[in-house]
Amino acid sequence: MTAQRLAPFGTTIFTEMTLLANKHGAVNLAQGFPDFDGPAFFLDAAADALRSGQNQYARMFGLPALNRAIAERWQRAADAPIDPDAQVTVTSGCTEAIAAAMLGLVNPGDEVILFEPFYDSYRACVAMAGGVPRIVTLREPTGAARDGLAARGAFWFDPDELRRAFTSRTRVVLVNTPHNPTGKVFTREELALIADLCERHNAVAVTDEVYEHLTFEPDQPHVRLATLPGMAGRTLTLSSLGKTFSLTGWKIGWAIGTPDLTRAVRAAHQFLTFATATPLQAAAAAALARTDDCERAVAGLVADLRAGRELLSSALERLGFRVHTPAGAYFVLADYTGCPGARGLVGEPDDAAFCRGLPAAAGVAAVPPSVFYQNREHGSRLARFAFCKRPETLREAVRRLEVWATGRRADQ
Ligand SMILES: Cc1ncc(COP(=O)(O)O)c(C=O)c1O
Repeated sequence: MTAQRLAPFGTTIFTEMTLLANKHGAVNLAQGFPDFDGPAFFLDAAADALRSGQNQYARMFGLPALNRAIAERWQRAADAPIDPDAQVTVTSGCTEAIAAAMLGLVNPGDEVILFEPFYDSYRACVAMAGGVPRIVTLREPTGAARDGLAARGAFWFDPDELRRAFTSRTRVVLVNTPHNPTGKVFTREELALIADLCERHNAVAVTDEVYEHLTFEPDQPHVRLATLPGMAGRTLTLSSLGKTFSLTGWKIGWAIGTPDLTRAVRAAHQFLTFATATPLQAAAAAALARTDDCERAVAGLVADLRAGRELLSSALERLGFRVHTPAGAYFVLADYTGCPGARGLVGEPDDAAFCRGLPAAAGVAAVPPSVFYQNREHGSRLARFAFCKRPETLREAVRRLEVWATGRRADQ
């Protein structure tokens, strides 16, 4: 029944893993969202907005106050003034911004460069737009002092592979930094190469920066591609509130770009959702205006996530996993093949079999990353664990993994 362009994508793996996690009462580290609430001043602002009659359709491209708040945040972060009405579009989460960007920019047959592993909506959105994906692989670090142009120990791409991916038909390159699921933060040099290739091929860069504030290494800061020389005119920057403020259910996202790029996004957005929930837009505008509170909230979240990263990574390492420590976002990718317990679940490396078996065997759920790859064998030795969880959730997950991996009894 499903149309051909979407049939290959099936049901997302998150749905399947959550069903399995629930069936086995597992600690769910598959889902990439927090099990704690966002800051109270956001929640209070939402209650106020609902009660103050802000409940009818918002302006198509965003409530004026929210467009202004997003533009001000951009100006502080990127040190470049933008016009809130002509350059900011409020969308229903970054997910809608990605879809609107692809539908608004890509003509049938145009090529879109994606780095694999990729967030699962990218390929589907390229397909919905009739585009042709060109895949560049982010490879596991080799242990060398430096791989490609990446930071030490980070997933990396071969610069020549990227150069070859650009053709006369390239319309868009989609870059997610900080990156889900590898935790990679693209370096300035990597972004400079992407910028150079975009200029040479007259391509547009679309960046997914939903984890822009969630970085853990002072020497690997988040760099905005739009701030590189020449790139403001050809970059569409997408982001959202969800990850930064632990409000993933609000689905408040945005796209920032030149008036031309913005017109393309809005051409699709007006027919996708038309506008995003008015009271939540009003609440977001009011809360974002409290800049000191916002900064404190983000700093607190980053400190908690850093602690969660250490707790989970060190436990996985003790259990024989080879952990790729993330510099950003909130996932740990780990090679499970060295973990003695894994041998009971899979013979040959098969991340889907490993992750399907884990909830019943260990009482913990993770995501098989091969679903984020076109070349699935690249992810077959890995599992993705989310650490955006309360400390007690993570401690319970670690306790269960230890019992499973060491064969110890739960009460020992
Ligand atoms: C890389 C990436 N982009 C986009 C999204 C979705 O963002 P939103 O919840 O704002 O739609 C996610 C959520 O997990 C993500 O990991």
